[in-house]
Amino acid sequence: MRTFFPALILLCSIFSVQLNAQNLGFRCTNPSTTTCNSLIDYRLPNTTTLAAVKDLFDIKNLRSLLDANNFPIDTPETTTVKASEILKIPFPCLCRNGTGISNRRPFYTVVSGDGLDHIAVDVFSRLVTYPQIQNVNGIPDADNISVDQELWIPLPCSCDDVDGQAALHYGHLVAAGSTVAGIAAEFDTTESTLLELNGMSNSSQLMANTILDVPLKVCTTIVRNVSMDYPLLVPNGTHTFTANGCVRCQCDAANNWILNCESSGIIRRNGETCPSTQCPGTSFDLGNTTADSGCNRSRCAYGGYRDNTIYTDLTQESTCSPPGGSNNSNGSPSGNGSNGLRWSFILGVSLIVLHHLSW
Ligand SMILES: *[C@@H]1O[C@H](CO)[C@@H](O)[C@H](O)[C@H]1NC(C)=O
Ligand SMILES: *[C@@H]1O[C@H](CO)[C@@H](O)[C@H](O)[C@H]1NC(C)=O
Ligand SMILES: *[C@@H]1O[C@H](CO)[C@@H](O)[C@H](O)[C@H]1NC(C)=O
Ligand SMILES: *[C@@H]1O[C@H](CO)[C@@H](O)[C@H](O)[C@H]1NC(C)=O
Ligand SMILES: *[C@@H]1O[C@H](CO)[C@@H](O)[C@H](O)[C@H]1NC(C)=O
Ligand SMILES: *[C@@H]1O[C@H](CO)[C@@H](O)[C@H](O)[C@H]1NC(C)=O
Ligand SMILES: *[C@@H]1O[C@H](CO)[C@@H](O)[C@H](O)[C@H]1NC(C)=O
Ligand SMILES: *[C@@H]1O[C@H](CO)[C@@H](O)[C@H](O)[C@H]1NC(C)=O
Ligand SMILES: *[C@@H]1O[C@H](CO)[C@@H](O)[C@H](O)[C@H]1NC(C)=O
Ligand SMILES: *[C@@H]1O[C@H](CO)[C@@H](O)[C@H](O)[C@H]1NC(C)=O
Repeated sequence: MRTFFPALILLCSIFSVQLNAQNLGFRCTNPSTTTCNSLIDYRLPNTTTLAAVKDLFDIKNLRSLLDANNFPIDTPETTTVKASEILKIPFPCLCRNGTGISNRRPFYTVVSGDGLDHIAVDVFSRLVTYPQIQNVNGIPDADNISVDQELWIPLPCSCDDVDGQAALHYGHLVAAGSTVAGIAAEFDTTESTLLELNGMSNSSQLMANTILDVPLKVCTTIVRNVSMDYPLLVPNGTHTFTANGCVRCQCDAANNWILNCESSGIIRRNGETCPSTQCPGTSFDLGNTTADSGCNRSRCAYGGYRDNTIYTDLTQESTCSPPGGSNNSNGSPSGNGSNGLRWSFILGVSLIVLHHLSW
């Protein structure tokens, strides 16, 4: 279906080519093949529809575009979005050789009259540069591309933890007049973290209309590393649908940064219903919690999905703060690393095998 070019292996060279004020790609020091979900700002070059943006970026479900922008779930895809509005684009990220790029998505099909620079500048609003597109696709001569050629557009991203905690890396379009301190305050991070992450030594180096790597704190989860949606990165104040739409997860910092997932109740195409998501040996469904008893509370938590299986674990969490006597006053997640509820332990594990479902 897609055309891949052998020289795509050489993508590492792409970021050494273009050392100007454009983004240089984000650092991603995780082992190669690490993937995660990511976000980037896209300023619309033209007035268009949500459907057109969804198609341009190969976004699988309209729902994930709506979620990323906190639009109501019933927003129709024919909704018009105006030129120069900014939309947040959700996409999968892949770490490779120290940097992160969108994981074989989106692909852009060359039309008559296109040039690589036009595609980078006008179609993708400078989220990439033409040498980045050229290199990742192994194109020897930038002036020689052909109509219907499929081009992988390598959007910048990262899957790295930040300050020892999982984070969703958001490629933030710097508005004219912003300051590093202002952006840090807006997204609940620090000036020094932003400078360090973006390889800047001085806040005065911030330039308008460039993409800044802004780490958004995410809720802790018990999603296991074999899950298709691992690591499920959900920032505060946002929700996401996962497990093919069967599960809806919400992150609320006020809930001690613990991801709250429940059955979405969505009926899938062909009238197929989602499987039961009950925790084993209990009457708990995903998201059910017991009444507090002292500092302890049990939760039927989402553990991920794979093939025809959804994992649910009954976990125990502390409702007393600060957890473990350590100080959580900076509002950071209490978990350690990307895959653990520090004060939870697994009481039970269930595998719910989904029969008669095509995933
Ligand atoms: C990784 O990038 C470095 C330079 O940043 C380059 O020297 C090296 O060859 C690259 N490795 C691979 C496997 O492409
Ligand atoms: C935006 O509109 C102009 C003029 O109508 C057109 O030439 C250009 O290709 C459009 N760009 C995109 C990304 O659709
Ligand atoms: C352009 O590239 C094609 C193959 O992609 C090649 O056959 C053709 O000779 C090239 N044209 C020029 C002028 O280099
Ligand atoms: C940061 O840049 C400004 C303006 O270029 C300069 O005045 C200041 O001394 C620099 N600060 C540091 C710590 O380099
Ligand atoms: C996945 O997690 C298991 C333990 O839960 C661990 O043993 C394994 O090394 C992990 N695999 C990767 C690739 O991180
Ligand atoms: C989390 O998000 C809510 C609203 O979405 C906001 O009111 C709150 O200040 C945020 N908390 C933190 C710690 O970022
Ligand atoms: C469990 O969750 C389901 C669905 O979220 C809800 O309808 C039900 O009332 C909850 N039960 C308890 C005991 O919390
Ligand atoms: C809370 O759970 C811990 C084990 O994690 C247990 O030692 C303690 O007794 C429990 N406290 C209450 C009030 O249930
Ligand atoms: C927690 O932080 C607050 C404010 O930053 C401070 O006053 C308090 O002493 C800290 N408590 C602990 C246990 O570190
Ligand atoms: C948290 O992680 C750090 C290193 O990443 C480790 O030193 C520390 O012991 C961990 N704390 C807990 C409670 O697991």
